[in-house]
Amino acid sequence: MILMKPLSNRKTTVSATPFDLNNDDFYRQWRDIKLTGYPQTLGELVVELNDPRKLTESEHQKLLSLCQKTNMAVYAGKTGDDPDPEIPLLMGRAFKLLELDHNWLADKTGLTSLKVVNDGARQNFIPYSNRAINWHTDGYYNTENKQIHGLNLHCVMPAPDGGENQLMDHEIVYIKLRDENPDYIRALMADDAMIIPPRIGKDGVIARKEEKGPVFSVNPVSGDLHMRYTIRTQNVIWKNDPLTLEALQRLEYWLESDSKYSYQGKLESGMGLVSNNVLHDRSAFEDSDNQKRLIYRARYYARLAGTSVSDVYGAGG
Ligand SMILES: [Fe+2]
Repeated sequence: MILMKPLSNRKTTVSATPFDLNNDDFYRQWRDIKLTGYPQTLGELVVELNDPRKLTESEHQKLLSLCQKTNMAVYAGKTGDDPDPEIPLLMGRAFKLLELDHNWLADKTGLTSLKVVNDGARQNFIPYSNRAINWHTDGYYNTENKQIHGLNLHCVMPAPDGGENQLMDHEIVYIKLRDENPDYIRALMADDAMIIPPRIGKDGVIARKEEKGPVFSVNPVSGDLHMRYTIRTQNVIWKNDPLTLEALQRLEYWLESDSKYSYQGKLESGMGLVSNNVLHDRSAFEDSDNQKRLIYRARYYARLAGTSVSDVYGAGG
């Protein structure tokens, strides 16, 4: 059990957030509590439970407590390879995640079935292949008002070989960069730090507009940190300014160095991830004739309920 005491009993105001670069005292208090007892292994993030469709109060509390600390938790349920979409949908609802991002390749339920697809539009996109996907947060190409704050995965069937994930709490990356040089954060908060060029359809028509925005942003009401990022260099235009490029180099360093804050593991049948859209990747995998990887992905515009910095740490400053 991870216990965290609010830093203060005062009601959180709009301006009180540890991610405010002008409030170093609150940042340091928050950082010290955040890093104390921070889980060191993926095993510490796993909660054994019975059925995600009927989450008990105690199971919910364990998942919530972990997500308050690390922005993520992994559940290991007993539903095996049951493909019922209600399993991830009800898990999301347990955290008051109601509004799914219905991206254009999503299923009717709003979930996305991540599996190898060799025909139609999906065959052109890496998530529907067996290829590796490098570090990113989900929906970095979405419009500003449709950014993804909650990301859950549920494994129906793992690949027999490969398909592992690495995971890193985006707040840890923020801490690493801010402690090295707060100007890195300033640079990555610029509105023009990252541009995703438009996607042009086969007919030559623009299928998605250009999206320009920051890497790090802070919700002006909740004070929570959001990260929009991909380590890919194709289809991303970074602001060509020395400080931004240096900040990006350091960010890559923290992702790719063997950080104790980076978790690695493989979701097996019945397991899933609940998260506030933490940084993650996926290794390449191989299906076999009788075992084909199927992961349900649920993207939400909201964070997991009860995991806001104001819920966990109160107000500071
Ligand atoms: Fe992803």
